[in-house]
Amino acid sequence: MGGARTVERRRMVMGALRSRRSVLAVPASNPRFVEKARGLDTDAFFLDLEDAVAPSEKEAARANAVEALNAGGWGDRVRSVRVNDTTTRWAYRDVVAVVEGAGACLDTIVLPKVTAPRDVQWLDILLTQIERATDLPVGRIGIEAQIEDARGLVEVDAIAASSPRLETLVYGPADFMASLNMKSLTVGEQPPGYDTGDAYHHVLMRILTAARAFGLQAIDGPYLQIRDTEAFRRSAARTAALGYDGKWVLHPLQVEGANEAYAPTQEDYDRAELILDAYARATEVDRRGAVMLGEEMLDEASRKMALVVAGKGRAAGL
Ligand code: GLV
Ligand code: MG
Repeated sequence: MGGARTVERRRMVMGALRSRRSVLAVPASNPRFVEKARGLDTDAFFLDLEDAVAPSEKEAARANAVEALNAGGWGDRVRSVRVNDTTTRWAYRDVVAVVEGAGACLDTIVLPKVTAPRDVQWLDILLTQIERATDLPVGRIGIEAQIEDARGLVEVDAIAASSPRLETLVYGPADFMASLNMKSLTVGEQPPGYDTGDAYHHVLMRILTAARAFGLQAIDGPYLQIRDTEAFRRSAARTAALGYDGKWVLHPLQVEGANEAYAPTQEDYDRAELILDAYARATEVDRRGAVMLGEEMLDEASRKMALVVAGKGRAAGL
C-alpha cells in the first residue's frame, strides 16, 4: 500500500534509520521533567499528553509541549508528542495544537491504543491538512503506532501497512496486560503462576514480524519498576535479543541500560564488520558464494545477519 509514497518519504526523513535505542517518556504537564529530559542521553523522547497527564491538565500540557519543542535544545534526538487516542475528546485538538504550534520542531506523533488502520489514516489525513494550511513540508511528520490491546494485535498487519508516515510499532505492555485480563499487577513481569516460558513471546513476535514486513522499527514499551535497574536490563535484553530496536525509558536510571541493550557489544560489532569484509572479498575477488572465517562457514544469509548487527553498531557510534 502506498509503495512509491513510502519510498519517497523514507528518502526524505530516513525514518527507518533513526536510532531509537532509548525513548524517554516525559509528561508534558511537568515542566521540571521536561527541563531534565534535555540533559539525558536518549536517542528519542516524547512529550506525553496521554496517560501520564491528568484530565484536568490536558489543555495546559498541550501548551507546554508546544513551548518545549519550540525552545529547542534537543540535539539530534527524535522529537515526538504522544496525543490522546482517537476515541477521546482530546485527540484532534492535541494534533492541531501541537502541529500548528510546533510542527517544524516535531519529528513524529505517537498515537496510542491503535486498534485499526483507520486510526492511523485519520491522523495521516489530519497531519496533511495541517501541513498544507501552515506551509510545512507535506509528509515529513511521522507516526508511531502503539499496539496495546487485543484488537490492535489482531489487526497489527493491516495497521503496519496503513500509512507511509508510519515509522514504528510500539508495544504497550501496561494497557496490553489489562486488555487481556492478565493476572498481574507488575508491568513487564511474568504473571504470577505462569512458569512455562515467556507469557509475552507471542505478542512481541507478532508486533516485530508485522513491523519488519513493512519496513518499520519495533519498540518495546515501559518497565515500571524504575528503581530495579537489573530487572529493567533483563527486560530490555529479552526484546533486544528478538530484534527490537529500542525501549521506552521512564527515568534517568533506565537510560544507560537501554542504550547498551539495543546496541551490539563491541565484540559482536567487530565480528560483524569482519564477516562483511570477508564475504565481500569472497564474492567480489574470489567469485565464491561461501567462504570460511575461522571455524564458521559464511554465505549470503550470514552477510545479511552481519549487516543488521553492523548497522545497529554504526548507528550507536561503535
Ligand atoms: C504504554 O503506553 C503501556 O500501556 O504500556
Ligand atoms: Mg498505554
